[in-house]
Amino acid sequence: MRKLKVGIIGAGQIAEMTHIPNYFKYLEFVETVSVMDVNLDRAKYIAEKFHIPYYFSNYEEMLEKLELDAVSVCTPNKFHAEAAIAALNSGCHVLCEKPPAVSADEAERMTQAAKENGKILTYNFHFRYSEEIQAIKKFIVAEELGDVYAAKIEALRRRGIPGWGAFINKEIQGGGPLIDIGVHMLDAALYLMGYPEVDYVSASTYRRIGDKAGVGLMGSWDPKQFTVEDSAFGYIRFKNSASILFQTSFALNMKERSIMNVHLFGEKAGASVFPPAIYTEKHGNLLDIELPFLQEADRHSKSIRHFIEACLGNEAVLCTAEEGLMIQRIIDAIYRSAEIGQAVKL
Ligand SMILES: NC(=O)c1ccc[n+]([C@@H]2O[C@H](COP(=O)([O-])OP(=O)(O)OC[C@H]3O[C@@H](n4cnc5c(N)ncnc54)[C@H](O)[C@@H]3O)[C@@H](O)[C@H]2O)c1
Repeated sequence: MRKLKVGIIGAGQIAEMTHIPNYFKYLEFVETVSVMDVNLDRAKYIAEKFHIPYYFSNYEEMLEKLELDAVSVCTPNKFHAEAAIAALNSGCHVLCEKPPAVSADEAERMTQAAKENGKILTYNFHFRYSEEIQAIKKFIVAEELGDVYAAKIEALRRRGIPGWGAFINKEIQGGGPLIDIGVHMLDAALYLMGYPEVDYVSASTYRRIGDKAGVGLMGSWDPKQFTVEDSAFGYIRFKNSASILFQTSFALNMKERSIMNVHLFGEKAGASVFPPAIYTEKHGNLLDIELPFLQEADRHSKSIRHFIEACLGNEAVLCTAEEGLMIQRIIDAIYRSAEIGQAVKL
């Protein structure tokens, strides 16, 4: 069997720590042939570190010169769309980092390019591959929660403003905690609820801590460069009458250092995801079900493996381009609602 030829666009931290090492775990199916970064020294360093034969500072050139089958897009958010579309147009399947893009317009064009070229476009929402989420999903599919009519999501840090990268730069990232960490829990909740159609969104965003000097638990940052929200709170209402309450923050005066969780509320039972538990009523008693013996899953490894299987035609992708577009529409609507101080219909 011919191996998939894979290229990497954007050779930063996530490419080095996650994408490339995981492609190397599946050598029987994949050959990582090239790495591209606008910073040629960085591309060269990563190519040499992993013994990858080619490196480039221009992805058009890489896509033209090498006949790649698949590409990982690991650039900062602002460049996801143009890189993914170029790769799709050159006949590659694409695994793009999260969030899909910095606007729904871009995500729409990416989805369109995937459709027109008949190629896979999927996103690295790796929390979906956790044992916890997969375990809760089984309870939902077996209808043991009944109709899940409400959810609460939290992606909160007490003082977790990243002191590296472009995470505080609105222009490059498209936003702050909502688009960076909130997006993972939002995707997890939507996945568990079956991606219902959104009716409207109502939200508030704040910049009350990040724009001032202060204690950092994830490095130090320059408050003058802090152009994103430090918190976003709100409500999503779906056409089937279900709702999600969300809270996401890089810096919030709360007790815990960090919370990442999804809570689901169904007619027959509720559930929390981290750690996984079911809250229900049986034989006249209230009952909590815990799952203490789950094995920890390497979510990134599973996500990459799944992408490879999808490229080989063995499995359907877990996260579709359309779901990525929907999440980007919700993010746009959250920022818009916060800006105009009103609910935004989708
Ligand atoms: N799935 C996750 O949990 C997770 C975790 C971390 C980062 N990410 C995502 O991965 C992406 C990259 O994050 P990172 O932490 O690796 O950032 P990073 O800053 O470490 O790396 C980004 C790299 O992209 C390069 N680059 C910039 N513009 C480019 C362009 N136009 N074309 C090619 N390369 C370009 C930079 O030179 C840099 O080497 C972001 O979208 C981020 O949200 C996802």
